[in-house]
Amino acid sequence: MNTPTIDVRSANAQHMYHPMVDPKVAQQHPPLIMERGEGVHVFDIDGKRYLDTVASLWNVNVGHNRREVIDAITAQLGKLAYYSTFHNTSNPPAIELSARLTAMFAPEKMSKVLFSSGGSDAVETSLKLARQYWKLEGQAERVKFLSLKGGYHGVHFGGASLNGSPAFRTAYEPLMPGCFQIESPYLYRNLWNESDPARLASLCAAELESAILYQGPNTIAAFVAEPVQGAGGVIVPHESYWPQVRAVLDKYGILLISDEIVTGFGRIGAMCGARAWGVAPDIMAMAKGINSGYVPLGATLINERVASAWERPGVPAALMHGYTYSGHALACAAANANLAIVERENLPERSLDTGHYLLERLHELMRYPHVGDVRGKGLMAAVELVVSRESREMLMAYSPYAQALMAAARQEGAIIRVQGNRLILSPPLVFTYDHVDEAMHILHRAFAVAENL
Ligand SMILES: Cc1ncc(COP(=O)(O)O)c(C=O)c1O
Repeated sequence: MNTPTIDVRSANAQHMYHPMVDPKVAQQHPPLIMERGEGVHVFDIDGKRYLDTVASLWNVNVGHNRREVIDAITAQLGKLAYYSTFHNTSNPPAIELSARLTAMFAPEKMSKVLFSSGGSDAVETSLKLARQYWKLEGQAERVKFLSLKGGYHGVHFGGASLNGSPAFRTAYEPLMPGCFQIESPYLYRNLWNESDPARLASLCAAELESAILYQGPNTIAAFVAEPVQGAGGVIVPHESYWPQVRAVLDKYGILLISDEIVTGFGRIGAMCGARAWGVAPDIMAMAKGINSGYVPLGATLINERVASAWERPGVPAALMHGYTYSGHALACAAANANLAIVERENLPERSLDTGHYLLERLHELMRYPHVGDVRGKGLMAAVELVVSRESREMLMAYSPYAQALMAAARQEGAIIRVQGNRLILSPPLVFTYDHVDEAMHILHRAFAVAENL
């Protein structure tokens, strides 16, 4: 039985802290309490229906309440909810998933998987494996990490130390030493005022090389980046960017860690983001779309080169890292069913196709004076809000405009996210053209309200 609505709302304010918001602000704005989902729609506790244009948190890729995923979880629950994968015990869904993932990412030469409980865990695992790899390789001085300004790599101390936005860093400093951020290929705003995407890609790759030389190539373990920056505002690089980055890293033997937590499993139109850009990373951190959020799960994949360090006979190489819930049977059962859907329904290709249509229609929003830029790849898009198009000054988070936009969209029946000065769209990959039309209809109405404040 449901708790009466009013109790749920006041109990939330009384007892629960929410990530990424000042509790005082959260308490002034009672949350939208979701009760039920169906495909690309969710329903709140009052029964109001919303189009989920953000797949909750970029993750419910196959949509809400998919029968196949639920059946896989409940079937597993009826057999064994959980058994540890520490040392030499295991469970069938985790084994099946590790085989599925290495097959899926065979083109990237991924050869081993270490499971965890979410994206931040998967990043942390990636960093620790990179450090251990270099120690096993006899290059113990390779301990530093380079990442991008604007990048987001989760909330653990390792990932937070890579994060390229003060908002995620300042409250928790001092962070991990040896982590340095360089310029990202952000066309709309960059240090050089460069408006040609190919030239910007080359400038950024050159900056990577100069940062490597400045730090000393033999002190750097890995470069970590998202194929398209997500939380940083959907920063879509030019197609030449990643191949140039890979070439620079190869020149100095540095590992490439691709944070695929948002881009993995189809979001930008390929099974992983790195593949969309034609490069193969050494390590991939994955979560979110791995099982569309049905049960928390993260996975770190390493390629043959990295794995080989652990395989050398006679070299002690214990992995002194892992989580109680590494390879959780329910989470892995959900992932196996989820990935079967991703493959059968060709969600990477659909994401590319629907994404083209979404981007084309989003450009209509340029008719509103506070829209400065529209960009995206696959089903990952951002609309950048500005005070004026001429000055490009950012419209800040919590501005009345942004608040009005979100409130009006909600009123009209869509969940949208305005993060900083960017309206982010990251719908389930099962979004159709009709859903795009539904979203656009609501967005036009919401922008009309915000413009008339
Ligand atoms: C690129 C990226 N890396 C890491 C994370 C952290 O994942 P989690 O929130 O599951 O810990 C996120 C979360 O949004 C992300 O977008």
